[in-house]
Amino acid sequence: MSLTPLRDSGASARVPAVTAQTLLEMKRCGHAITSLTAYDYPTARLVDQAGIDVILVGDSVGMAVLGYDTTLPVTMDEMLHHTRAVARGVQRAFLVADMPFGSYQASAEDAIRNATRFIKEASAHAVKIEGGQRRAELVRRLTDAEISVVSHIGLTPQSVHRMSGYRVQGRTSEAVDELYADAVALEAAGAVAIVLEGIPREVAGEITARAGIPTIGIGAGPDCDGQILVFHDLFNLTFSPPAKFVRRYADGAAFFADALERYRDDVASRTFPGDAESYHLPRELREQREAQEQPADLHATGKK
Ligand code: KIV
Repeated sequence: MSLTPLRDSGASARVPAVTAQTLLEMKRCGHAITSLTAYDYPTARLVDQAGIDVILVGDSVGMAVLGYDTTLPVTMDEMLHHTRAVARGVQRAFLVADMPFGSYQASAEDAIRNATRFIKEASAHAVKIEGGQRRAELVRRLTDAEISVVSHIGLTPQSVHRMSGYRVQGRTSEAVDELYADAVALEAAGAVAIVLEGIPREVAGEITARAGIPTIGIGAGPDCDGQILVFHDLFNLTFSPPAKFVRRYADGAAFFADALERYRDDVASRTFPGDAESYHLPRELREQREAQEQPADLHATGKK
């Protein structure tokens, strides 16, 4: 008998929900972990029904959806709002909520309080925090508080100013050693997985081979245990040229633009809505009213 909780996938077969243990088993069996961000209910449903294993409500919501220039202004309230919406659309995937800048740096107490809100008020299964060795103690404290943590090292967007921009990390011997030490410290502290962002594929491959927990890469090459992309990157919905590591699977911008222009033209030319898109009076009432003499001009009767 499996102790893994079963949830209805919405498909004909019932499938086990993805848990941290599932991800670990996938690493051990060599099955690639699929992951994508989602920020709202419809995209969460689509991503979940496509069988993506891990859905991250990333603080990238700030740039992809809210129009900020960086992820730094994103607030706890914004993250909770989007995580709740996503959670309503997820039946199968492991749901991770990103802790926004400022929600975990000041103190462990603050971090535990904020992380607890994601689990308790927004139904997340885990939280993600950026940073390596200097976050290891916090990862341990969160894990002790029964909160699963996904760590995130390499190019950590919340450190954009410290890094002097979004730059590939781990390109010197010292930096590579730091990344290995980060991964070791985070695993020892209890992290359930590590996101590796913007690092050379050789370094990501070696961290993945050495780590006992799954690695999920973004801009870290093909040798990680899994891959994650930002939903809007996949569909060309970012209004900016893609980073080198992005593969676009559909041109969502062109798809929406075409539909929007056709809608505009149909309304302007009065071909939308048509009769089939209109409600009608019951036939009897319509015939009755048609049989009645109608005033030629409503204004002439004083009615508005
Ligand atoms: O916020 C985010 O979307 C992320 C991913 C890029 C890993 O942190």
